Amino acid sequence: MKDVLQAIKDRSSTRAYTPEKLTDGELTTLLQAALQAPTAANRQEIHVTVADGGSPVLAEIQRELAGGKDTPHNFYYEAPTVLVLSGDSAFHWSAVDAGIAAENIALAAEGLGLGSLIIGCIRGVMTGERGEEFSKALRFPEGYVYQVAVAVGRKAAGKEPHTYDAAKNVTVL
Ligand SMILES: Cc1cc2nc3c(=O)[nH]c(=O)nc-3n(C[C@H](O)[C@H](O)[C@H](O)COP(=O)(O)O)c2cc1C
Repeated sequence: MKDVLQAIKDRSSTRAYTPEKLTDGELTTLLQAALQAPTAANRQEIHVTVADGGSPVLAEIQRELAGGKDTPHNFYYEAPTVLVLSGDSAFHWSAVDAGIAAENIALAAEGLGLGSLIIGCIRGVMTGERGEEFSKALRFPEGYVYQVAVAVGRKAAGKEPHTYDAAKNVTVL
């Protein structure tokens, strides 16, 4: 397993997966990473739905997202597992808490040698006309709404980590 700084350096979004399922041990490690993430006021309110890549609700969300059109890939790039994070709609910090949990999952995946993709693009579908139906099918707790999802699986293609411009993004006073 990689140390955390190496995982941060090496992680990049994976948009091609093998069909191989995660092992129980890998899934447990990813869920621990999500649940060990800090939350505002230690509310620990983020809920994780573990969805198999073949689950009908994901296919239905994809159909809604694509408006019935064929696309070369679904929104989770055919990953074998998608972790869908929901949070209490009444709690101000749920989006931040979910984002932190999502990155913990992505780094844990990298540490395990797996690929991951953080997914925001279904937000419109999840908050749209059929949002409640999809939230029920994904078994969000009562009063919870979609925050973000993370696809995870074995990398079928690599991608270099992105570069950045510290001069633009950092101000040292
Ligand atoms: C909040 C959030 C939402 C994202 N949503 C999507 C998405 O819906 N689809 C996708 O392909 N990538 C998505 N990404 C991945 C970004 O495009 C990616 O992180 C960015 O291009 C930098 O590339 P890297 O992850 O390889 O460093 C999302 C990332 C974040 C943090």
